[in-house]
Amino acid sequence: MKVIATTAELRAALKSERQQGKSVGLVPTMGYLHVGHMALVHEAKRACDITVVSIFVNPTQFGPNEDLAAYPRDMKGDLAKLEAEGVDYVFTPEVAEIYRPGAHTIVDNPLLSRILIGKIRPGHFRGVTTVVTKLFNIVQPDHAFFGEKDYQQLTIIRRMVADLDMPIEITGVATVREHDGLACSSRNAMLRPEDRKASVVLAKSLAKAEEMVAQGQRSVPAIRNAVRAVLETEKRGIVESVDIRDAETLDPVSGKFKQPVVVLLTVRFGKVRLIDQQVIG
Ligand code: PAJ
Repeated sequence: MKVIATTAELRAALKSERQQGKSVGLVPTMGYLHVGHMALVHEAKRACDITVVSIFVNPTQFGPNEDLAAYPRDMKGDLAKLEAEGVDYVFTPEVAEIYRPGAHTIVDNPLLSRILIGKIRPGHFRGVTTVVTKLFNIVQPDHAFFGEKDYQQLTIIRRMVADLDMPIEITGVATVREHDGLACSSRNAMLRPEDRKASVVLAKSLAKAEEMVAQGQRSVPAIRNAVRAVLETEKRGIVESVDIRDAETLDPVSGKFKQPVVVLLTVRFGKVRLIDQQVIG
C-alpha cells in the first residue's frame, strides 16, 4: 500500500497503472474509518483492479458554526485498516494541496444542494460536489463508491456525474448497521450512553415504514405520521425532519406513491444529529 500526499505523485503512480490496462476505483472519505467505510472499500476491491482511498477532511463542506477542528481523526488507525484490506493507494493531501490560493471555482447543484439537509447545512453540498469533482479529476477513476447512508449526497453525486458528463460509474453501497440497527457513523461515539440506547428508534421507525409498505400501504401522509409516531416514543430524541421523497430525484411526493420513494430522517440527540434513510415501495 502506498500512502501519497501530493496530486502530482498520485497522478504519476496511477498513470502507470492505467497504462497496464488496470481499472481504478475511488472511495472518497474523511477518515476515522469504521465498518461502514470498509464496506465501500470492499466493494471497490471486488469491482476494480486498483483501489484508491482518499482521506481528506474537507473544510469547504463545514459551516461556520460547525466544528471542523473537532472532526475526529485517526490517521494511524485508518492506514492500518486500509492496509489490512489490501488497498493499493491512500491519498492523504493537506488542505493547501487541495485548495490553492486564489481558487474560487465551485461546483454546485443549485436545486438539490438547497433542500432537505442542504436547508439545515447551507453550503455543505456545494463543498461536497466541489471536492468530489477535484478528487475525480486528480484520480480519474473508472468507478467511485458512496454510501446510501448519505442518500442526498449520493443522489447529488449521481446527478453531477450525469449533468457534467463525467465518465465515472457511481455505485451506491447499502448502509452498514450496528447490531441493534443504528447506522454506523463516526458520530455514534459522541452519543451519551443513554442516547446511544435510545437512538435505535431511527431504525425501528424505518422498519415500521417497510412493514406498512409490505402490507400494501402507499399513502405518504399515513407512512410519515406512523414513522414520526415511532420516533416520538423516544423522548430523548428531537425529531428534526421526516421526509418522503422520490427515490431517484428527491422530488416531493404527496398522496399515494407508485414509484420507489425514500424515507429520510434527521433526529438530534443532545448536540449529535443522526441521519438515516430507507428506500421503500
Ligand atoms: P465520510 O463521512 O467519511 O463518508 C465516506 C463515505 O462512507 C460516504 O460515501 C458515506 O456515505 C459512506 N458511509 C458512511 N457511513 C456508512 C455506513 N454506515 N454504511 C455505508 N456507507 C457509509 O461522506 C463523506 O465522508 C464526505 O462528504 C466525502 C464524500 C468524502 C466528501 O468530502
